[in-house]
Amino acid sequence: MSAEKPQRIGLLGTGCIGRLHAEHLANRVNGAALAAVADINLTAARDVAARFRVNSATDDYRQLLQDPSLGAVVICSSSDTHTRFIGEAAAHGKHVFCEKPIGVNRESIMEALDAVNKAGVKLQIGFNRRFDPSFAKARELIVAGKIGQPRIMRITSRDPEAPTLEYVKTCGGIFLDMTIHDFDMARFLSGSEVEEIYAVGGALVIPEIGQLGEVDTCVVTMRMQNGVLATIDNSLQSVYGYDQRVEVFGSAGMVQVGNRTPDTHVCLDNNGVHTAKPQYFFLERYQDSYLAEMQAFVDCIREDRPPLVSGKDGLAPVLIGIAARKSLVERRPVTLSC
Ligand SMILES: NC(=O)c1ccc[n+]([C@@H]2O[C@H](COP(=O)([O-])OP(=O)(O)OC[C@H]3O[C@@H](n4cnc5c(N)ncnc54)[C@H](O)[C@@H]3O)[C@@H](O)[C@H]2O)c1
Repeated sequence: MSAEKPQRIGLLGTGCIGRLHAEHLANRVNGAALAAVADINLTAARDVAARFRVNSATDDYRQLLQDPSLGAVVICSSSDTHTRFIGEAAAHGKHVFCEKPIGVNRESIMEALDAVNKAGVKLQIGFNRRFDPSFAKARELIVAGKIGQPRIMRITSRDPEAPTLEYVKTCGGIFLDMTIHDFDMARFLSGSEVEEIYAVGGALVIPEIGQLGEVDTCVVTMRMQNGVLATIDNSLQSVYGYDQRVEVFGSAGMVQVGNRTPDTHVCLDNNGVHTAKPQYFFLERYQDSYLAEMQAFVDCIREDRPPLVSGKDGLAPVLIGIAARKSLVERRPVTLSC
């Protein structure tokens, strides 16, 4: 065990994903101590503080950022607040872990990245799927040349149930909230940037989402700069459970990642062959990746290494998402300039 003092970390946003990170920071991440929490919902902040024996709970995030005893903050508030909090946290000299998306528009992201660079603090973005053992293995095999030259990539991501309309209003739309994980996975697995994108979509599940000008179902086709052709399909409703699959096909083979089930039973009867549905949702399916990404964040601070998912990795899929939106609205392929 290291004699070094644990990193005192503040948590900003104690909703669904904030509570998960709180539990990891308080109980499971080596070298970390959850020392303060903030949420505009004071009851939520106090609840998390009580559960994880944290002395400081506030509804004013500035109070948390001004605490000199904190070395880092973990931002888990709604997506439209991220860039403001990143910029202010950096200005207070805090290292930052920020949930995806890094932001919802280019200008505010550039300002936040500028603040991070000026302050010389570390910034890691919450693309947890890179830390999933199966996706990490797929990338390792691709980089090692086991499938030869990658040619086609297929990514499927379908949720078991849609979020609330309230959430939809602040999340930045399907491309910046949901598909963004798949854009990141496309970059991660291909090792390349998106050159061209074409997106189609519809409100096929929840008509109210359509009234907000959003879609709940989409198919995206992309040409990567290295020539790989990729498709992503998303749905906010999959009746058979959380469907998370990836396939990369290359000149010398193929690598696939399938769904995970809570158990591996197979039941055969006169209606067919039945297995368990996939693990319920992201908190179950990606449980180990959330812990691994937070350990990596704390380790990069303690060992003074660059974060494994950088600010640039945060920006790129937002730009892809904005291009996807443009493609959807204008009903045409869009070329990316990054
Ligand atoms: N990496 C992943 O797999 C993953 C999964 C879920 C959510 N997320 C991201 O995490 C973020 C939060 O998502 P969630 O599902 O936990 O949402 P949520 O609505 O459950 O929680 C958000 C919390 O932020 C608080 N908040 C909002 N504005 C605030 C402000 N100005 N100051 C302080 N607190 C504020 C809200 O009161 C709420 O408690 C989103 O950006 C989302 O995209 C990432």
